[in-house]
Amino acid sequence: MPQNITPLIAGNWKMNGLRAALIEVEKLAGRLAAGEPPRCTVAICPPATLINPMNRIAAPAGIVLGGQDCHPAASGAHTGDIAAQMLADAGAQMVIVGHSERRADHGETDDLVRQKAMAALASGLTPIICVGETRAEREAGKADAVVSRQLAGSVPDQAADEDVVIAYEPVWAIGTGLTPTSADIAEMHKNLRDQLISRFGKRGEGVRLLYGGSLKPANAKEILAIANVNGGLVGGASLLADDFAAIIWAL
Ligand code: PGA
Repeated sequence: MPQNITPLIAGNWKMNGLRAALIEVEKLAGRLAAGEPPRCTVAICPPATLINPMNRIAAPAGIVLGGQDCHPAASGAHTGDIAAQMLADAGAQMVIVGHSERRADHGETDDLVRQKAMAALASGLTPIICVGETRAEREAGKADAVVSRQLAGSVPDQAADEDVVIAYEPVWAIGTGLTPTSADIAEMHKNLRDQLISRFGKRGEGVRLLYGGSLKPANAKEILAIANVNGGLVGGASLLADDFAAIIWAL
């Protein structure tokens, strides 16, 4: 990993968490205050309802908060949606866009994901842009082609360096306990890095490339040590402070 990249470990709480779950963030804040400083930026992307109350615990502990989605428009008649500037106003500094669950559940296309990432950048948020192939696509030998297409179509032209984060999350690894081999992760992350450098030049070198999909305490050390893996996007294992801490300090 280049010296100048600070890795990122981001928790994705998905549609989990009531105010009672803030106790886990208090526990994590306690670990951060008491332990050795982590070698990464620590982030949590809770449901939007928790961003504001969580920030009172997260901000003093140095934990960055993020949203899980945003609308491409700044405001308007879009019932149920949330704008990037609303997330920023609530205390978020990042936002996940194009998660495979949104691509699948809401039919999000690469073009829409790119527009969401642009809206995030316009509101001063760092977009975490997700890409990843399905099991059928991997078995058909199409993983590289699918992920390359998603990367080309979902990342805005003005995004590079620390302004943008890419998360490679094979769909078949999410929430299943399955993970690709270290060699497969290394190959995909090398491809992603090469494509970013060929598109953005030197500015492609500083983009953080996260791995996501069944990242847990038992496999974090091995996966986070792979070349071009600059951190992780963690679902299930981010819900409990002990598990999330074990991943943070695996770096
Ligand atoms: P998981 O989810 O860690 O529960 O597999 C990862 C994600 O979807 O971001």
